[in-house]
Amino acid sequence: MRAIAEGLKGQEGALLPILHALNERFGYVDDQAVPVIAEVLNLSRAEVHGVLSFYHDFRRAPAGRVTVKVCRAEACQSVGAMALIERICGRHGIALGDTSTAGVTIEPVYCLGNCACAPAAMVNGRLHGRLDAGKLDRIVGEAQE
Ligand code: FES
Repeated sequence: MRAIAEGLKGQEGALLPILHALNERFGYVDDQAVPVIAEVLNLSRAEVHGVLSFYHDFRRAPAGRVTVKVCRAEACQSVGAMALIERICGRHGIALGDTSTAGVTIEPVYCLGNCACAPAAMVNGRLHGRLDAGKLDRIVGEAQE
């Protein structure tokens, strides 16, 4: 963590590039990174934590084996994305942003560039559109096999 932060600290607005680099490298940004980044950038821990928690891009814990990113931007919301999210979260017994004991992580995203085929979701990096609860259940179930 420190090596990544030190390596990027010279960039303008280095905090975001450092957080992105940590997220990319470890798959999430561990809470232990906050004091390290604060020290390297001479910021307060609260400042680093504020930015980290503001952006949905940064995962705060390791993801499960199956990652479901459900779009909740406008076009998808207008055709039932929120009901879809409620259903998939309910089925796995978790809140949006959490990981089930079976290793399914469900996260919100804000437009997958697939608005014409809303509602859309990405399952393990693969884009799916015109979803309904049954179709998304099936796709997630297949990804779990
Ligand atoms: S709004 Fe959902 S894919 Fe664009």
